[in-house]
Amino acid sequence: MEIQNTKSKFGQFGGQFVPETLMNALIELEREFEKAIADESFMEEYRYYLKEYVGRPNPLYFAENLTRKLGGGKIYLKREDLNHTGAHKINNVLGQVLLARRMGKKRIIAETGAGQHGVATATVCAMFDLECEVFMGVEDVERQSLNVFKMKMLGARVNPVTSGTGTLKDATNEAIRDWVANVDDTFYVIGSVVGPHPYPTIVRDFQRVIGDEVKEQILAKEGRLPDYLVACVGGGSNAMGLFYPFADDKDVKMFGVEAAGLGVDTDKHAATIAKGSIGVIHGMMTYVLQDDYGQIMPVHSISAGLDYPGIGPQHAYYHSTGRVSYVPATDTEAIEGFELLTKSEGIIPALESSHAIAYLMKLAPKTSKDDIIVVCLSGRGDKDMNTIMKYVGGESYGK
Ligand SMILES: Cc1ncc(COP(=O)(O)O)c(C=O)c1O
Repeated sequence: MEIQNTKSKFGQFGGQFVPETLMNALIELEREFEKAIADESFMEEYRYYLKEYVGRPNPLYFAENLTRKLGGGKIYLKREDLNHTGAHKINNVLGQVLLARRMGKKRIIAETGAGQHGVATATVCAMFDLECEVFMGVEDVERQSLNVFKMKMLGARVNPVTSGTGTLKDATNEAIRDWVANVDDTFYVIGSVVGPHPYPTIVRDFQRVIGDEVKEQILAKEGRLPDYLVACVGGGSNAMGLFYPFADDKDVKMFGVEAAGLGVDTDKHAATIAKGSIGVIHGMMTYVLQDDYGQIMPVHSISAGLDYPGIGPQHAYYHSTGRVSYVPATDTEAIEGFELLTKSEGIIPALESSHAIAYLMKLAPKTSKDDIIVVCLSGRGDKDMNTIMKYVGGESYGK
């Protein structure tokens, strides 16, 4: 697989742009992770909880009504929304928390945007009786209040972050600051394929279960690989989980859908690939939305989970080589995707996943009836009901 030219990088992307005080912790983390995934008893434990606790394998559902409505190739939905806690985030959290336990860490911290990563972390910490603290921007605390309540019920401390735009980037800054101060006893569970090496690799390897299952399931159902894969991209973990096992299958075309908010030509979007440039954020070299001084720009998306000004370094690499096409979908298009899936299949998707459906609406009609399209349904929409109710009620949802 032509991916890395060094261990910590994907082409020119990735790396470890962190204070010196964190280097030892990252080196230890890399060493322990490599030992753990090579250890069959660790992987057996991980697979046990994926099956018995998360509910894997989840279905690859043939969306017959949606296929008929869009009038092109056969559409399959990978049902990450059916996982325990309602999104793909738990696959990765489970792996990282098992790793933290193996490393003897008693305190877990995490950042969260949509709250799905925070809820997954609080859930697994409750199960394993670990102290859990979650950082969350104040804006997201408000729009994802249901998830905040869940995290508290699960015994986690939720720290609202008031700096910046009060969204995911600010929560991540705060989590990194906490980790620097408490690195000896604390494990930082990162929620996407972002951050300094080895995090993008760790998260990818715990999320690749999505694509591995899809491969097996589509071969069983159709006897061949899909023609198209579609997934939404915030930091990029559900997309990477789906794409990575297909990276060497050159005939499989892949689309990562990023949040275009009110439009890529406005200043209210999170379309990092469409509008970003190469820079450093949260310890990694990647595409980032920044101003002329290299300061990170405020971002906007109707979905809290895509509201991030960077993108995982392996996605930056896939973009630079053309392996994956990154396409934007606006808030309005995402709502159309949300409504289409809800009404045609009786499946209420997360607003993040609705971006993938929005692009599917453009892609599918251009494909032929023999084509196979797989869309990652990264999560369910319960957490977004407040936002949708405001939207349906005609209230402005833009910032
Ligand atoms: C349901 C759902 N999908 C997608 C995302 C975006 O994250 P990623 O790009 O890491 O998959 C989130 C983030 O919170 C989410 O909750």
